[in-house]
Amino acid sequence: MHTTHPIQTAVFPVAGLGTRFLPATKASPKEMLPIVDKPLIQYAVEEAYAAGVRHMVFVTGRSKRAIEDHFDTAYELESELEAAGKGALLEIVRAVAPEDMHCSYVRQPRSLGLGHAVLCAAHIVGDQPFAVLLADDLMVGHAGGPGVLSQMAQAFESLGRSVLAVQEVPEDQVRRYGIVAGSPAGERLINIDRIVEKPEPGQAPSRMGVAGRYILTPRIFDLLREQTPGAGGEIQLTDGIAALMERERVYAYQYDGTRYDCGSKEGFLQATVELALQHPQMGAPFRAWLRTLTL
Ligand code: UTP
Repeated sequence: MHTTHPIQTAVFPVAGLGTRFLPATKASPKEMLPIVDKPLIQYAVEEAYAAGVRHMVFVTGRSKRAIEDHFDTAYELESELEAAGKGALLEIVRAVAPEDMHCSYVRQPRSLGLGHAVLCAAHIVGDQPFAVLLADDLMVGHAGGPGVLSQMAQAFESLGRSVLAVQEVPEDQVRRYGIVAGSPAGERLINIDRIVEKPEPGQAPSRMGVAGRYILTPRIFDLLREQTPGAGGEIQLTDGIAALMERERVYAYQYDGTRYDCGSKEGFLQATVELALQHPQMGAPFRAWLRTLTL
């Protein structure tokens, strides 16, 4: 049976400066930092691919060349592995870019905000709904279950409107998130009527924080074009979504899974430990070694 997937294109904004990881991010992209043995961006691309997306659009900037190289053919490496009969490693290298996956790259000339980065992809995405994935939010679906973007794509298929991934966050952390509020619209779904970027605790309309996964209708591009730069001179995606809400319904989806904020050192280290424990080869020896630590 042939199934059509509702979302064919995903945008990966990877043009941020990654200042929280300096000096590691001085000359190489934050998104290439590995969790165990795989770069953050590959986790996000695999999540999109599993949701049926085949066209990956990267919004890059200076010192992001490594991302393009990662999803390109590594000709010399592949022929050396082949000559050495290292079939398993060859498979790992080739699996990074499956044959039916297409990549496009566009530059964001200056870090003018996430909304601006998404807008830089408008001419490639065209007039179709698309996903946005922030690779520094590493999302792990429930064991054996679908990934977070797959869950959202399924919700989008029946709603036909923009869907934002949300999770409940502690009160003292609301200022790190876009916070949404609205009315229940089905299992895991909220029909949003408010979205506020990084509110102070006590001023937040709820504790539902937006995570780095979005499915957006193409109308968002017109609204982003109309945005004047907000906080810090940046064009915020949240402001574009707030404008979109005035024209069409926008839903929040409480995903089933775990999010690691790998844009912060704490989340990055948590992801490293937890994914190392789940790793097929590393898991057992790493667990045994952790037990020897005096904490
Ligand atoms: P962050 O707020 O995490 O910013 O952006 P950052 O610059 O990457 O990291 P820090 O805070 O300096 O450590 C969220 C996402 O939006 C992208 C980033 O690459 C990241 O995936 N982004 C942000 C852009 O692509 N362009 C921008 O102008 C801003």
